[in-house]
Amino acid sequence: MKATISPMRFYCSQAWTRLAAAALAFSLWGAGAGQSEPAPDNVFARNRELGRGVNVLGYDPIWRSFDHARFQTRHFKVIKDGGFQTVRVNLHTLRHLGPAPDFTLGEAWWRTADWIVTNALASDLRVIVDFHEFMAMGEDPEGNQPRFLTFWRQAASHFRASPSSVLFEILNEPCRKLTPDLWNQYLAAALALIRQQNPTRTVIVGPAFWNSVDHLDQLQLPEADRNLIVTVHYYKPMAFTHQGAAWSDQRDKVGVLWQGTPEEQTTVTRDFEKVQAWATKHQRPIFLGEFGAYDKGDMASRARYTAFVARAAERLGWSWAYWQFDSDFIVYDIPNDRWVEPIHRALVPDSQP
Ligand code: BGC
Repeated sequence: MKATISPMRFYCSQAWTRLAAAALAFSLWGAGAGQSEPAPDNVFARNRELGRGVNVLGYDPIWRSFDHARFQTRHFKVIKDGGFQTVRVNLHTLRHLGPAPDFTLGEAWWRTADWIVTNALASDLRVIVDFHEFMAMGEDPEGNQPRFLTFWRQAASHFRASPSSVLFEILNEPCRKLTPDLWNQYLAAALALIRQQNPTRTVIVGPAFWNSVDHLDQLQLPEADRNLIVTVHYYKPMAFTHQGAAWSDQRDKVGVLWQGTPEEQTTVTRDFEKVQAWATKHQRPIFLGEFGAYDKGDMASRARYTAFVARAAERLGWSWAYWQFDSDFIVYDIPNDRWVEPIHRALVPDSQP
């Protein structure tokens, strides 16, 4: 959990049949096309390929106007050369959808999305297409559910012939009114839709409560679908990672250190062991899709924490993506065109200065 609003359980009475009907309608609409690629024999191998990643482009002006982008073509190569294998592209798409009932994403949006995917692949990066509308979905799941499904219908169709190195992540951090029960229904509906045209694409999905490591037990996945990677996010302790962050309830706190004491380390390793126990029991690979510490913290503590979390994930065979390349928590300083060295070295210890 990491938002200002305390998590509360809102048990929703919305009938499953409504979702199933919607999914069926969409799937009939999209039926027919299929990928020619064989199914991966091992989704664990695919997860290992994700390796080290970084979140990109979620808050870039590129989405308002391509000409005002901070992120440039050369940054894909910068990321690859910097020792990363994957970009998780954070998409806030709802504001770009056209009017009901079609909610069509316009050409300009697709041009930008295609520019990202094409250039990332050209730099030999894996690409996670991450539907990042967690705030809207958490505030009004039922109101936004048709647009959520429509986004996936369009994206699943658009990327159906893309290589297997393009992965889909159904929703970043389901939270608030999107309760675990409701989320299990929504994810099943979106996955059913995706599978119509992307039967062999690896899909990423995580638990409710902001992809919290403490809520995996409430996540229900279609047992027969073995091509899923499960994602969690890690920002504990919030008092350290979100100190001074205006959007969190830690906004008035600063000066919290992370010294890497045995107690601090044990908190992380215990949380991760719990996740791993769930993963082993359910035979699912784990992707740590976000972690990091906000810019207002002490740099030495941030670097220590970032390195510790990254190595702890790697020891368990997880892939990961740092939050984030640009904007805040940054690992790359775009105006000065250079890595934020302490964070970069923490993430990729073998990188060249
Ligand atoms: C959100 C960001 C936030 C970050 C850390 C992400 O999922 O999109 O707005 O800064 O988490 O709290």
